[in-house]
Amino acid sequence: MTTNHCRPGFPPVPQSVQSERLTIRPSARDDAPYLKKWWNDPQVTGPGGNLAGMQYDDADMEDWFQRYVDGRECSTHFIICLREADERPIGEFYIASDDRPGCVECALLIGETDLWGRGYGSAALSAYAEALFASELCEAMRMNMRVDNVCAMRMAQKVGFVVEHVWASGAFQTVFLSRAAFELRKLRQAEIEAGLRR
Ligand SMILES: CC(C)(COP(=O)(O)OP(=O)(O)OC[C@H]1O[C@@H](n2cnc3c(N)ncnc32)[C@H](O)[C@@H]1OP(=O)(O)O)[C@@H](O)C(=O)NCCC(=O)NCCS
Repeated sequence: MTTNHCRPGFPPVPQSVQSERLTIRPSARDDAPYLKKWWNDPQVTGPGGNLAGMQYDDADMEDWFQRYVDGRECSTHFIICLREADERPIGEFYIASDDRPGCVECALLIGETDLWGRGYGSAALSAYAEALFASELCEAMRMNMRVDNVCAMRMAQKVGFVVEHVWASGAFQTVFLSRAAFELRKLRQAEIEAGLRR
């Protein structure tokens, strides 16, 4: 989990992002039951290599909020919500390290597993990339994932990420999205939608 702290005098990463179907907003204490459920669900943590779930109890949750949420002027941990009347939380998105202007490393999960495969993961990633690159303070995003996490890799590819390198163990890989590649992908998609490209 992130040890990143918002740097004094340096603009924060985007704090609130919306797409057609999603809102990404800073995590708050009320989100604890959702996060605890998702982090303890082996189906959610398994693709990352944790087959037994994180097994957080209430004390672990309290510790986590104190370390990563309480008293922060700007957030690096966010909740992905459906843009419906109740703004239902469905997942988390976080900045794992912030090396701007070069890069930020991020990760996400859709904790409500019945919603997998409906495009929410890629939509959240794409919306955050859009806001981050629009800030003109960041040139790239990276994510780390298991090589056999086909769902995460497919999600990342849909946004334009490519494999940067496979770790020496062969089990993990780093995927990379440059601002230029993201912009080019958007342009090509617009051309396809306009019938100018197949
Ligand atoms: C990775 C994750 C966030 C994706 O969320 P999602 O909402 O399902 O993502 P999307 O629907 O945008 O994209 C998933 C893609 O993988 C595909 N997919 C799912 N299971 C698959 C499988 N077993 N084999 C191949 N493709 C698969 C989906 O069909 C979809 O592709 P498509 O739109 O071309 O059909 C979600 O699965 C998750 O939370 N996993 C556990 C945590 C995790 O692995 N996080 C990533 C580490 S950074």
